[in-house]
Amino acid sequence: MTDAGTFPGGGWQSGAAAGEMPPMVRTPAPPRAPQAPVGTSEPLPFERPARPEAAEPAEPAAPAEAAHEVEIGPTGRPMPFLPEPGPVAEGGRARVISMCNQKGGVGKTTTTINLGASLAEYGRRVLLVDFDPQGSLSVGLGLNPQGMDLTIYNLLMQSDVTLEEVVVPSGVPGMDLLPSNIDLSAAEVQLVHEVGREQTLQRVLGPAMEAYDVILIDCQPSLGLLTVNALTASDGVIVPLECEYFALRGVALLKTTIDKVRERLNPKLSIDGVLGTMYDGRTLHGREVMERLVQAWGDTVFHTVIRRTVKFSDSTVAGEPITSYASSSPGAAAYRQLAKEVLVRCHDA
Ligand SMILES: Nc1ncnc2c1ncn2[C@@H]1O[C@H](COP(=O)(O)OP(=O)(O)OP(=O)(O)O)[C@@H](O)[C@H]1O
Ligand SMILES: [Mg+2]
Repeated sequence: MTDAGTFPGGGWQSGAAAGEMPPMVRTPAPPRAPQAPVGTSEPLPFERPARPEAAEPAEPAAPAEAAHEVEIGPTGRPMPFLPEPGPVAEGGRARVISMCNQKGGVGKTTTTINLGASLAEYGRRVLLVDFDPQGSLSVGLGLNPQGMDLTIYNLLMQSDVTLEEVVVPSGVPGMDLLPSNIDLSAAEVQLVHEVGREQTLQRVLGPAMEAYDVILIDCQPSLGLLTVNALTASDGVIVPLECEYFALRGVALLKTTIDKVRERLNPKLSIDGVLGTMYDGRTLHGREVMERLVQAWGDTVFHTVIRRTVKFSDSTVAGEPITSYASSSPGAAAYRQLAKEVLVRCHDA
């Protein structure tokens, strides 16, 4: 992998208004009969047109005449050509990418496992870093991190523990894992007193930079010291966002955190992309959220979208990536496409 390159149309970094998600309010609904006052915990208004939908329409197909020329992707933009990845360039340094969103359950871990497995299929040497004390990444790869003697916690906190001692095979050829368990939650507290506390992960990953082509860090759902460590160690960030209205809230705060880390700790940090997950293109809601995402973040939004399917939960239970659990499923194809898109954006295709 090469430098911490930017990618064409990095809308997040260039768009001044990108930090603020525009309100998702459409044509005002007609006046309604008086009703009980709305409580303060009510969700934000998300008004729909007055005429209720009879049924959810099928996902709209691209116009027939256009189909021959440009294929319109699920984000509403023309799909670019994504070449099959070639062999990896010799002698490069690993590109480190964090999966980051302080909202829980948006697909960070699922994306780490399946993007990693897809990159490994394309011949990249991949290291996954479980940086969440929940240990979901480790569990999702069929491990029992509670029973492990050495985890990323030991690597961070004990100078006599080496990376090689902690790395375990993931079960996917070409992909290794730095496991984690609940011990890591203590690191967040203990690191506060360390000199260079934000650079601790970056320091311990040093020996992995030559041995791998891509390092993917699965962050926990918070913007605390562990996540700041992950961002400081990274060249890029991928922000998985569930295609659901509430998922859009809080992204401005995440953007502010990334900006601060770039300014104060890691000038090379770039946003590799915003990834729409759990997308359901058959619902008006799903399409609306996708439209707002693209309006707000422009070309930072990946053309690849991960649709909602129960196969992801099934593959987690099976302890393997969807690319091996259901290799020919649409979910596996989506993550392979994401891998190609990531490689193009990072100038390594
Ligand atoms: N595209 C998808 N379709 C359906 N279910 C999905 C999809 N992606 C992830 N899931 C499921 O949603 C749940 C949450 O996903 P995941 O653990 O990847 O999110 P997360 O952001 O890592 O969560 P946390 O913030 O708790 O770490 C899991 O049960 C996973 O199997
Ligand atoms: Mg997770």
